[in-house]
Amino acid sequence: MCGIVGYVGKQDGVPFLLEGLQRLEYRGYDSAGVAAVKNGTLRVHKAEGRVRGMADTLPKRVAGPLGIAHTRWATHGPPSDVNSHPHVDTEGRVAVVHNGIIENAAVLRAALEADGVVFASDTDTEVVAHLVARADGEELEDRVRAALRQVEGAYGIAVCDATVPDRIVVARNGSPVVLGVGNGEMFVASDIAALVRHTQQVVFLEDGELATVTADGFRTFTLDAQTTNKTATEVDVTDDDYSRGGHAHYLRKEIGDQPEAVRGTLRGRLDHRFATSRLGGLEINARELRAIRRVKILGCGSAYYSGIAGAHLIETVARLPADAEPASEFRYRSPVIDPETLYVAVSQSGETADTLGAVQEVQRKGGRVLGIVNVVGSSIARATDSGIYLHAGPEVSVASTKAYTCTLTAFALLALHLGRVRDLGPGDGERLIAGLEALPAQIEEVLETEEHIAAVAGRIADATSAFFIGRVAGFPVALEGAQKLKEISYVHAEAYPASELKHGPLALITPDLPTIAVVPDDQMLEKNRSALQQVAARGGRLVVVGHSDPGDGVADDVLLVPRSEPELDPILLGIPLQLLAYHAAVALGRDVDQPRNLAKSVTVE
Ligand code: AGP
Repeated sequence: MCGIVGYVGKQDGVPFLLEGLQRLEYRGYDSAGVAAVKNGTLRVHKAEGRVRGMADTLPKRVAGPLGIAHTRWATHGPPSDVNSHPHVDTEGRVAVVHNGIIENAAVLRAALEADGVVFASDTDTEVVAHLVARADGEELEDRVRAALRQVEGAYGIAVCDATVPDRIVVARNGSPVVLGVGNGEMFVASDIAALVRHTQQVVFLEDGELATVTADGFRTFTLDAQTTNKTATEVDVTDDDYSRGGHAHYLRKEIGDQPEAVRGTLRGRLDHRFATSRLGGLEINARELRAIRRVKILGCGSAYYSGIAGAHLIETVARLPADAEPASEFRYRSPVIDPETLYVAVSQSGETADTLGAVQEVQRKGGRVLGIVNVVGSSIARATDSGIYLHAGPEVSVASTKAYTCTLTAFALLALHLGRVRDLGPGDGERLIAGLEALPAQIEEVLETEEHIAAVAGRIADATSAFFIGRVAGFPVALEGAQKLKEISYVHAEAYPASELKHGPLALITPDLPTIAVVPDDQMLEKNRSALQQVAARGGRLVVVGHSDPGDGVADDVLLVPRSEPELDPILLGIPLQLLAYHAAVALGRDVDQPRNLAKSVTVE
C-alpha cells in the first residue's frame, strides 16, 4: 500500500526520492508525487499513475537537498492528480505525505472549512498540512505534535516546511516509519526496501514516536515531547535482495529462491542431539510449553491458509488441539481469550493491520502471542511476546510464495518442538529432522519440472473458472493453490475439501471447468481416488498433484513431487501450484508482480 520516502542532506535528494519510490512500487499504488525544498521554496509535482510517468514529467525546478515523496493507494477520494500526495497548506509552505487513515478527518475538515480554509483535494491527509501550518509552536516538531494531537487514526507521516529547510519531521502511529543513517545525509522511508541501497544503519520508530531528521542526525521524542533515546541498528538486507536476479518477474525469482529460503528458516534450528528444534525467539520454557492446552493461529490470506496447514501439523505431531482463523474476523468477534492457549500470529510483512489488530486484542485480554514473521523489526514482530523469524529474505511480488513455504517450514519446527516436550518420541523427532533437511533439494527437484508445469498451465489458462480439491493435509494446499491462481491470473478459482464435492459443487463440473486435485499418497488416497472418479465421470478435466499417477487414466495431467515425511507433504505439494499459477498468469499476459487491486502489505482495514 502507500509508501513514504524522504531525504535531507547536502546534494539534490530528488534522484534518491524517485529511486526510493520505485523500490516501493511492489507494495501497490495508484499515484505518486514529490515535494522538494530549495532556497526556502517548496515545489511539488504529483500525478496519477506510475512513478515512471510522474518522473518523466517532473520539472527540473523540483529539486533540492530536502524532500519527501509518496506512492498513494486511494482511501479518501479516488486516484487523481490532486488527491496524490504530497499535500500542502493554503500558502504552499508545509508539505505532508501520509500512510494510513485519519478517522476524524471529516470533523477536522469541517472545522477548518468553517475557519475559511479551502481544500484542494478529497483526502484525509490534506487536513494535516493545514493543521501543521496553523499550529502554534516555535519549532516545526512542536507544530507537528500540536497537529497530531488533534488527529485520530493510523499514520506514518513525513512533514517539511519551506521556512525550516534543514529538517523533516516524521511520526508513526500504526503505520511504519524507518530512518536511514547516512554520512552527512539522512533518509526516511516506510519500508527499508527504499533505503538499503544507501545504508544498512536504520532506526525503526515505535507507535506514538516522532523524529526530527536533519542532514547530521536525528532526535526522537513522543507526542508529549519526552525524548526517547533511539540508536541505529544494522539490517541484514542489501539492495541485491530486492533485485529480480535476471528473471522476468519477482514472483518467478521468489519461487526459485525457495530452496535457499527454506535453508534460511532451518539454519541453526535443528537439534540432532535431542531430536528436536531449537527456536531461540520462542522464549517459552519447557514447563510453560507443557501447560499449553490449545494453539490458535491467526493470519490473513495466504498467511491464514498456511495457518490451517500449521494447525494440522501441530495437531498431528504434537497432539495438541489447534486451529486457524482469519485474523480479520477474529479481532471483531469479541473472542474468548484462554490463558492456556498459545496464540500464533502469522505475517510475511509483519504490517497487516488486521493481524496486528488481532494480536492487540489477544494481548489486551491477557493472552500470549507468538509471531511467525518474515520482516525483521516489523510491527507484528515487535508487538508479539516472542517469535520465529522466517529468514526467507525480502518478498517483493504481491503474491506470497517463499514466505508461505517458509511459514509451513516454521510450523513444522514449532510442531516438532511442541511434540518433543510432550509425547513425540526421539525416533519420530529424528525422522522429521531428516525430512526437513531433505526439503531444499526436493524443492529443487520440483522446480526442475517447470517446463511440464508450464505446458499444463497453458492448457488450463483459458478456463473461466477452476476447482482445487484436497482432503485433510491436502485441503490447505488446495486453498493456497486457488488463492495463487485467482490473485495473479484472475481466473476464478475455488477450493473445496474433496469430500464436499458431492454435497454441491459437483453440479458445476463440465469439460470446461478444470479440477486441480491435491492427492498425496497418504491415508486419504483411496477416498481421493473416488472423488477423482466422480469428476472424470462428468467429463471434468483433471490435473492431479501428488506422488504418483492415480491410475486408470483418470488424470489428464499429473504434477509429481518427491515423497517426503507425510507430515511435511503440504510443503512440497504447494510448489507446483505456484508454478502453475505463475505460468497461467504469464500465458494470459497478466501483471504478475502487481496484480490489479492488490497491495503487498495491507496496512489499513
Ligand atoms: C498472498 O499471496 C496475498 N498477497 C495475501 O493473501 C497475503 O498473504 C495477506 O495479505 C497477508 O499478508 P502478510 O503475510 O504480510 O500479513
